[in-house]
Amino acid sequence: MVGLSALLFAMLTQDQERDAALNKANAAILAAQPLAAVDPERPQFHYHAPAQWMNDPNGPIFYKGWYHMFYQHNPYGDHWEHMHWGHARSKDLVHWEDLPVAVWPSLAEGERHVFSGSVFPVEGGRPVAFYTSIGDGREPEQWIATPEDDNLLHWRKDPVKITQSIHGSKPLAEWRDPFLFQDFGLTYMVTGGGLDGKGIVALYKATKPDLRHWQYLGVMFTHPDTDVHNIECPNVAFVDDKCVLLISVHGRVESFVGELQNTHFVTEKRGVLADGSYASQLFQGVNGRVIHFAWVNTGGHKGWNGFLTLPSELRVGKDGTLLRLPVKEMAKLRGPEIKIGDAVVNGTFDVPQLSGQALEIEMTLLPGAATKAGLRLRSGELEVSYTPATRTVSLPGRSVALPEPPGPKGLKLRIFLDRTTVDVYAGQGEGSLISHAEHLPAKGDAVALFSEGGQAQIKAIRGWLLHS
Ligand code: FRU
Repeated sequence: MVGLSALLFAMLTQDQERDAALNKANAAILAAQPLAAVDPERPQFHYHAPAQWMNDPNGPIFYKGWYHMFYQHNPYGDHWEHMHWGHARSKDLVHWEDLPVAVWPSLAEGERHVFSGSVFPVEGGRPVAFYTSIGDGREPEQWIATPEDDNLLHWRKDPVKITQSIHGSKPLAEWRDPFLFQDFGLTYMVTGGGLDGKGIVALYKATKPDLRHWQYLGVMFTHPDTDVHNIECPNVAFVDDKCVLLISVHGRVESFVGELQNTHFVTEKRGVLADGSYASQLFQGVNGRVIHFAWVNTGGHKGWNGFLTLPSELRVGKDGTLLRLPVKEMAKLRGPEIKIGDAVVNGTFDVPQLSGQALEIEMTLLPGAATKAGLRLRSGELEVSYTPATRTVSLPGRSVALPEPPGPKGLKLRIFLDRTTVDVYAGQGEGSLISHAEHLPAKGDAVALFSEGGQAQIKAIRGWLLHS
């Protein structure tokens, strides 16, 4: 009886602490919304928190008809601090409904931050969240939170905690960001970290279906570069019969395509995914799709900071290249189609039909004699280009080299402009990047094609004004 009443008391205390923490956090976010809402530089159709700072997407899960997205969130300012898990849900990955903050740091238990993690289905029950708990003067631990309702609105902290003792006598440095996946009916978890000065991904196996019991299987992946000392936000997915490992290091997401052989990842192809983004997350296996999101870090402090990339599907090409293309649901944002047709460009070619700050544009580029060709958005402020000599697709401050030059049919480019942010997907998705500009002149909606150094052909140009 004593045990039961002690447990009930602990639950009551936790509920009181939770309610007080969440009420305070939600009120702070609400108060910041008017300032965030009027900033003309804030993207519209890229998902972002209602206000204040956000970083990594966390725990994406499709559950009872909704796509749920959680994310690293500071309710108290537009800078990184006080990590909570924000929450939103969507029926179609494109239109999002903001929900109250879901997971809070339990200050009474010495917890300072709720870091990144994932939400994973449990047989016959509601899904469970795994996240890294950061506390004052203690090692990071992986904590569990469980939802109390099917809308995943109210959460409770589980008494089970995974600590460094799971690694025996070799603790991991910067041990964090649990990500769960299944293989051959078994559930595994990976975390990022460092060991002996090297960036590594550690692998664990659930030994019971309740996901409360884990066994450390060792290092699954060691980063090949000697200047990488720890790895953040590992994701594992099985895509087109390949194993895909995404990791975040040095401000970008690196992709490794290969095989999981027993407990070791064997790399066949390496690349950079969605350059300009960081800390990726995946919806796994929703109607057979693997859907990728990541965080875009922005400067400026105007009651908001940071947003997510567009929902994109991952595939692996025949040659093992990781491909990333926008999900088909993105077409829901389109207004009526504007067909431009084909153009021969030598210098600058205005496209007055396509003026705007929220646009999708599709086109096929045949560079011909041009040394560089492409598109200029926001009256020349944002340039999207292809440079044949280096096979690079470029945006302001970013570029990505394509594995092959375009064939005789040319290079297909899909471009999304969202006020100050441009996303480009090249070819079948073998190159994708995103760039966010600060301090653009508020006016300036013109779109122009351009070529430098010679004549280029730009074919099948189609455009859409996008709804927010
Ligand atoms: C990546 C990251 C994660 C960590 C979280 C903290 O951006 O550093 O490793 O869990 O952000 O907000």
